[in-house]
Amino acid sequence: MVDVLLGLQWGDEGKGKVADFLTPNYDVVARFQGGPNAGHSLEINGKRHVLNTLPSGIFHENCINIIGNGVVIDPVRFMEEIDRTTEAGGHVIENLRISHKAHLILPAHKILDAASEAARGKEKIGSTLRGIGPTYRDKIGRNGLRIGEIFSPRFKERYEKVKERSLALIAHYSYTDFDLKSMEDEFFNAVERLRAYQFVNSEYLVNQYITEDRRILAEGAQGSMLDIDFGSYPFVTSSNTTAGGVCTGLGIAPRQLNNVIGIFKAYCTRVGGGPFPTELNDKVGQDLRDKGREYGATTGRPRRCGWIDLVALKYAIMLSGVNKLCMMKGDVLSGFDEVKAGVAYLQDGERTTEVCFDYGAELNAEFVSHEGWREDITQVTAYDALPKEVKSYIDYLESELKTGIQLISVGPGRNQTIVRD
Ligand code: GDP
Ligand code: IMO
Ligand code: MG
Repeated sequence: MVDVLLGLQWGDEGKGKVADFLTPNYDVVARFQGGPNAGHSLEINGKRHVLNTLPSGIFHENCINIIGNGVVIDPVRFMEEIDRTTEAGGHVIENLRISHKAHLILPAHKILDAASEAARGKEKIGSTLRGIGPTYRDKIGRNGLRIGEIFSPRFKERYEKVKERSLALIAHYSYTDFDLKSMEDEFFNAVERLRAYQFVNSEYLVNQYITEDRRILAEGAQGSMLDIDFGSYPFVTSSNTTAGGVCTGLGIAPRQLNNVIGIFKAYCTRVGGGPFPTELNDKVGQDLRDKGREYGATTGRPRRCGWIDLVALKYAIMLSGVNKLCMMKGDVLSGFDEVKAGVAYLQDGERTTEVCFDYGAELNAEFVSHEGWREDITQVTAYDALPKEVKSYIDYLESELKTGIQLISVGPGRNQTIVRD
C-alpha cells in the first residue's frame, strides 16, 4: 500500500512536519524527487531539525527510509546532513537505503547553477543554487553520473567527462567566481565516506515491500506549483513534484498508489521569482512573514507571502488526485481582522478560474473575504474547540476544494496537530 504526501503550493507547506507526524502509520518513507533544494523542518521535543535529502521518517526507529532514483544527491551536503541528523538521534546508518540510480550533483553543477542564474539578470529563477537544474539537465540529456557509479573502477574517468561538459558551459557564461579545486577535494572526501551506507536497487526493494503488504509513504519535495510541467514555468524546479513523479521516481506502478495527501498552508508563500497572484506587498504580507517566521529553511531567504490561492490549489488537487488535505499554520492567521481567499485570476484584466499558460501576462487575483479570529489556537487539541470563525473558514475551503481537511496543524510541534475523524 503506497500513500503519497505532496505540497500543493510553492513549497514549504509543512511536509516535513506532517511526514514525521504520520510516520508511525508507515513502515517505509521514501523520497522520489528533488534534492538539497528542499528544507523540511521537524520539531521533536521542542528541538527543530531540518532535513534536505533524507526522508522525514529518519527519526523513527522502526522505519526504513529510501532515497529513490528520482532524487539528486550532493555528497558534500548529504554527509553534513547525515552527521548532524545522526548526532541528533536520527537512525541513518541502520534505516537508510539509497537507490543506485539517484543522480550525483557535481561541484561543476553547482557552479553552473550560479553561472546560469547570474546570466539571467532580472529574469532570475531564484534557484537555491544547489545544482539541481544542471544535474537534472545532465540526467535528461543522458550525460549524468549516477551515485551507484561511485563503486565503479571507472568512476573518476566518468566524473571527469561529466565535469568537462559543465565547465564548457560555465566558460560560455564567462563565469569565473569559483574555486573548483577545493570543491572537488570536499566532493571526493564525501564520496569516500558515502560508500559506508546501504545502496540498493530501490525499485526492487519498494516493490518487494508492496508485495509484503508493508505500508509506504512517498514524501514529495517542493510543491505542485513548482512542477517542471505544470508549475509556473520557467520559475519552477527541474522535477515532477506532482503524483506522477512518485511512479517514475521510485519505480511504483500507478495502480499501486492509494491515498494522496495534499499539504497546504492556510495562506500562501513563495521563495524566488515568478508569478504569485495572491501576493501581498503590504503590511499584511509583512505581518504574515513575521508571525509565520517565513524565512527559508534551506537558504534563510525571506519568503513572499499572500492569501491562499484556491485557483492554484484546485489545480494541484486535480493534477495529483488528492483525496485528503492537511491545513497548516492556521495559528499564524490569528489576529487578522479578515482572512481572504483568491478565487479567480485576472489575466491581463480577463477573469479566469484556470491556471493558464503564462506568457508574461499581468496576473492578479479576485478575493473573497472571511471573518478573522483573535484567539490563539496553538494549544487547541480538538476540532470542536477551535473558534467558530476557523471552523467556518475550514468549511468554506472544503466546499470549494471538494476534499476533506483531515489534519489541522496549529504549530510546528508534533502535538500541535488536530486529527479529524
Ligand atoms: P516543508 O518544506 O514543506 O517541510 O516546510 P518547511 O519546513 O520549509 O517550512 C514550514 C515551517 O513552518 C517550518 O518552520 C515548520 O516548523 C513550521 N510549521 C509547520 N507547521 C506549522 C504550523 O501549523 N504552525 C506554525 N506556526 N508553524 C508550522
Ligand atoms: P521544500 O521541499 C520552496 C524554489 C526556489 C526557486 C525554484 C527553483 O522545502 O518545499 P531550484 O533550486 O530547485 O533550482 O529552485 O524553486 N524551491 C523551493 N521553494 N521550497 C522548496 O523545497 C524549494 N525547492 C526549490 O526557491 O524559486
Ligand atoms: Mg521547505
